[in-house]
Amino acid sequence: MTPDPKGPAPHGTDDLLLDHEYDGIKEYDNPMPKWWLYGFYASMVFGLLYWLKVPGTGGNESVIAEYRADSTQAAAVFAQAEANKPRMGDADLVAMVGDARAIAAGKETFTKMCASCHRADGGGMIGPNLADAYWLHVKSASDIITVINEGVTAKGMPAWNAVLKPAQVNDVSAYVLSLQGTAVANGKAPQGDAVTLTDVKAPVTGAAPAAPSATIVPTAASEAPTAAAPANAGGRPTASREATASGG
Ligand code: HEC
Repeated sequence: MTPDPKGPAPHGTDDLLLDHEYDGIKEYDNPMPKWWLYGFYASMVFGLLYWLKVPGTGGNESVIAEYRADSTQAAAVFAQAEANKPRMGDADLVAMVGDARAIAAGKETFTKMCASCHRADGGGMIGPNLADAYWLHVKSASDIITVINEGVTAKGMPAWNAVLKPAQVNDVSAYVLSLQGTAVANGKAPQGDAVTLTDVKAPVTGAAPAAPSATIVPTAASEAPTAAAPANAGGRPTASREATASGG
């Protein structure tokens, strides 16, 4: 601890030359400025208090508890909303066929997503003819929504609920329904059973060239459900039909 013989220390008179020397290198003992030192201590105190306060580390779990409570509440609200969500019934879908916006949007989706298998006019290729009155998986209008949402993946019909928003599925379902009775040329041979889904009129715009009178299938009219029949939203028989109707 001797003062530097070669001159004053560069940082003022406090600076002391330390005892050791390595390869001619000497070291001053320069204390940290007081403001820096107190800031350092303060940050340690802050760190400790912070550690005690942060959820999950210290004793304070309130934020986590609050988060859990919020999530539980949100899940309940979500489940409730999901349960309350109005399902499109047969009559709703039939009514949608008259909605020019829905038909235009549905047609766009159909052209993009469905035409590759069902043909642009719905006449059928890989997928069945959607313009005839014969259906494999559809007993009433809203079954169209179900089969589009869930697909028939074993038979090559994708489940579209992973791709399309519910509103888009509704639109394209209305469009598919509007194809009923369009009697396209060179359509795929009928598959499934004749079902009268609707006697709805074609959309006012003429976006889909439907011939309203042809939507009635005379042979099946007596036993087929009509659009006016009460929407059997509770127990629609899609599952059993998938099992039995695939041969036709
Ligand atoms: C990869 C080919 C493919 C694409 C793309 C496709 N489908 Fe299908 N679709 C099928 C096949 C195959 C079936 C018949 C399934 C069966 O035999 O059970 C079918 C069945 C259906 C049925 C039921 C027909 C009936 O007789 O019950 C509807 C409705 C339908 N598709 C609508 C659509 C719509 C709407 C889209 C576009 C969003 C679409 N499909 C896209 C292949 C496809």
